[in-house]
Amino acid sequence: MKIDLVTIFPGLLDGPFKESMIKRAVDKGLVEINLVDLRSYTRDRHRQVDDTPYGGGCGMILKPEPLFEAVEDLKGKAGTGNSVVILMTPQGTSFKQEVARRLSGEKHLVIICGRYEGVDERVRSALVDMEISIGDYVLTGGELAAAVIVDSVVRLLPGFLSEEASENESFSGSLLEHPHYTRPPVYRDMEVPEVLLSGNHAKIDRWRREQSLKRTYERRPDLLEHADLTPRDKVFLDTLRNVEDD
Ligand code: ADE
Repeated sequence: MKIDLVTIFPGLLDGPFKESMIKRAVDKGLVEINLVDLRSYTRDRHRQVDDTPYGGGCGMILKPEPLFEAVEDLKGKAGTGNSVVILMTPQGTSFKQEVARRLSGEKHLVIICGRYEGVDERVRSALVDMEISIGDYVLTGGELAAAVIVDSVVRLLPGFLSEEASENESFSGSLLEHPHYTRPPVYRDMEVPEVLLSGNHAKIDRWRREQSLKRTYERRPDLLEHADLTPRDKVFLDTLRNVEDD
């Protein structure tokens, strides 16, 4: 996979991909991540990437020409014939694990980091395939949001996580994860649940499943609607509901 991030502040994205597991994915060749300075696609002396809005008002709008030229050039260089062009904006559709999974199957992503008051509407209507928001709050620009997208997509690439780890994680089966513990068995009078020390793997699996169901029921009951639940899970959830009713 190749990911091009188009930004006027490449320095903002310099750090996140040079550490830890994303760096390892880059080093392993699972993904190529390029920071593309939008100003390098300007043709004027001042390297102008933005301008005042027609009709008046405050704030600056990212101009269409450098964005169109950048995206067309990057698509040509990737040569996949089916690049996905994403605009980071609070007006976009909400980013979810399911979207990350879909994007992880693509060969080439171009992510445009919006800035200032916005981008020229012709970019949205004729250049962009998807508009994505990472949540209902407004950032100063799309760079940090783009880093979130890249992180969540890259960790889903084949060869990044072990199969078991990706199956078990939160949201993959629409449930939150069970609690985790490590040594020591007692810390400041807080004990690790005995079942985890028992060595009985069937019991441990059942305990984890039930904790996962309980946590989801308590914190994100909305997720249960789409969860893959066994008859035994449903009985367990009924007992939780009945405890609440009593
Ligand atoms: N740019 C500014 N705020 C944003 C958000 N919440 N998501 C994506 N891009 C943004």
